[in-house]
Amino acid sequence: MCGIVGYIGNRNACEVLVEGLKRLEYRGYDSAGVALFADSHIDVIKTPGKVSRLESMTSGVQAARIGIGHTRWATHGEPNTVNAHPHTDCTGNFAIIHNGIIENYSSLKTKLTLLGHSFRSQTDTEVLAHLIEEFYSKTRSTEMAVRLALKEVNGTFGIVVMSSSEPDVLIAARRGSPLLIGLGDSENLIASDASALISHTRNVLYLHDNEIAIITRDNVSLKNLDDEAIEREAEHLTFDLEQIEKGGFDHFMLKEINEQPETIKNALRGRLIDADGISKMGGLRDVEDKITNARRFVILACGTSWHAALVGKYILEQCANIPVEVDYASEFRYRNPVLMDGDVVWVMSQSGETLDTLAALREAKVKGAPVYGIVNVVGSTIARETDAGVYIHAGPEIGVASTKAFTSQLAVLNLINLLVSRRRRTISAEQGRAIVEEMERLPEKIEQILGQRDEIEAIAEEFKDSRNFLYLGRGVNFPVALEGALKLKEISYIHAEGYPAAEMKHGPIALIDENMPAVFVAPGDSTYDKILSNIQEVRARKGNVIVISNEADGRLKDLAKYIVQIPKTIDILSPILSVIPLQLLSYYIAVKRGCNVDQPRNLAKSVTVE
Ligand code: F6R
Repeated sequence: MCGIVGYIGNRNACEVLVEGLKRLEYRGYDSAGVALFADSHIDVIKTPGKVSRLESMTSGVQAARIGIGHTRWATHGEPNTVNAHPHTDCTGNFAIIHNGIIENYSSLKTKLTLLGHSFRSQTDTEVLAHLIEEFYSKTRSTEMAVRLALKEVNGTFGIVVMSSSEPDVLIAARRGSPLLIGLGDSENLIASDASALISHTRNVLYLHDNEIAIITRDNVSLKNLDDEAIEREAEHLTFDLEQIEKGGFDHFMLKEINEQPETIKNALRGRLIDADGISKMGGLRDVEDKITNARRFVILACGTSWHAALVGKYILEQCANIPVEVDYASEFRYRNPVLMDGDVVWVMSQSGETLDTLAALREAKVKGAPVYGIVNVVGSTIARETDAGVYIHAGPEIGVASTKAFTSQLAVLNLINLLVSRRRRTISAEQGRAIVEEMERLPEKIEQILGQRDEIEAIAEEFKDSRNFLYLGRGVNFPVALEGALKLKEISYIHAEGYPAAEMKHGPIALIDENMPAVFVAPGDSTYDKILSNIQEVRARKGNVIVISNEADGRLKDLAKYIVQIPKTIDILSPILSVIPLQLLSYYIAVKRGCNVDQPRNLAKSVTVE
């Protein structure tokens, strides 16, 4: 989604901003721009398309020591030059960049138009520039004008404002859109994401909702919207830039798929107690009783995280004997969801910033439920607003299509299952120990699957021109079929559907012919014999069958055109293995079709709009 970078210091601001914007490209965007102060005025340079185009447009610009930069993912108005950020007021005195949505922009625009302001763009953001101009004419202080303007605004924002009448300060503010300030030596930066700062400094201050930062070359002060000072200790970022670069792989997505042996280890590290066959998670320690005694779990999430939640439902109902409801966060927030005494709500999000999930979290809190998080990005809004939670520790996920976060979410759901099942005594210590042992073997089993990349690439070669795919699975692997279909469609633009295998005969079977590849996720679990019958039904209609399985019996060999063999494990862990060939299959098909796998069209890494 949109990205923000701001710089004030002694270096070439334009270079710092463009470099920062490049680091934010992974978030997804459709235009980019910078505003730079030099020779007593602000210059705005912006363009639709990639940051590389902005870079060539700004290559000679050297004088500015202060500036702001933005990558925009269109929400109001098409992605063109006029709508790209930064936006300015009537006089060109102020330039502003903004992430989020101003909900009451249309009434504010009418009011400002009546006061004589003239608008150039269709964006909600430009309203803010004029509103600040309006308040500045009364207060002659940029900081005060920003504060007063924000009090008029409904919606979400992460903003940075610069002014040619106060050219040695940047004013930043947030409500609902993340911002952090990088503290340097005689220079300071601000960004919506740590990756844009980390090559300059590791010392950062996170801005919280309804706070303003006044940033000069040598100082940063924080205030709330009522002008009260706020003290906050700086934090030290521990992840490496190396971690967020491609590390020798052609794409971030491939790098992240290959990181899974390591990310699973990270998710489990220090959390398994072998001897007792149970798990422990620091972030849940204080709420273990509440979780154990819950009458029902409700898990809220979107997209891939929602698929992980569905796997969680199977696991928790099977082992912990606890009813689990899984809901799309976007549906939950707009219904009148029934939450009862004894319900525990979980919100699951890789980014921790998905607006629908955040809104669902807030709705659940309003209804009085305890809300716990399963989140990847440390310090993200969802992580901060939940009552307690677990980090999945997958590290920065740059490829827009989620891969390693999905398997880490599954690992953490299994940890929660182990904790709850043992404490509710629905599994014995011995059964718990067997699960722990299998969890510890996952990384080496994932390595074995990754070793089959060439075979999977050959399958991709054969099916890369298919126009449709069907993904079928049963039980705990039905959500894996959904996830396989989502991965394929989002990065290769091939239409794909995921279905419970047995449901196929109730409709989708009409689509099967020799042109339709059907991918079955069929490990040798309790549904294996049933799924063999479903495979037979597809073969009888000349469908091409690709099977992901840990079985290699004669029946399967006769039916499947291709079998990708995965190692055996216990049922509840099998999705962590069975999804990996599907991630690789999508990746190779997309690459062979010439698609931009890391930044698929129309998609954003962190969806901070409704
Ligand atoms: C798919 C994908 C999206 C996200 C969804 C939720 O590959 O990445 O479907 O899973 O937008 O995002 P988070 O987990 O960040 O809340």
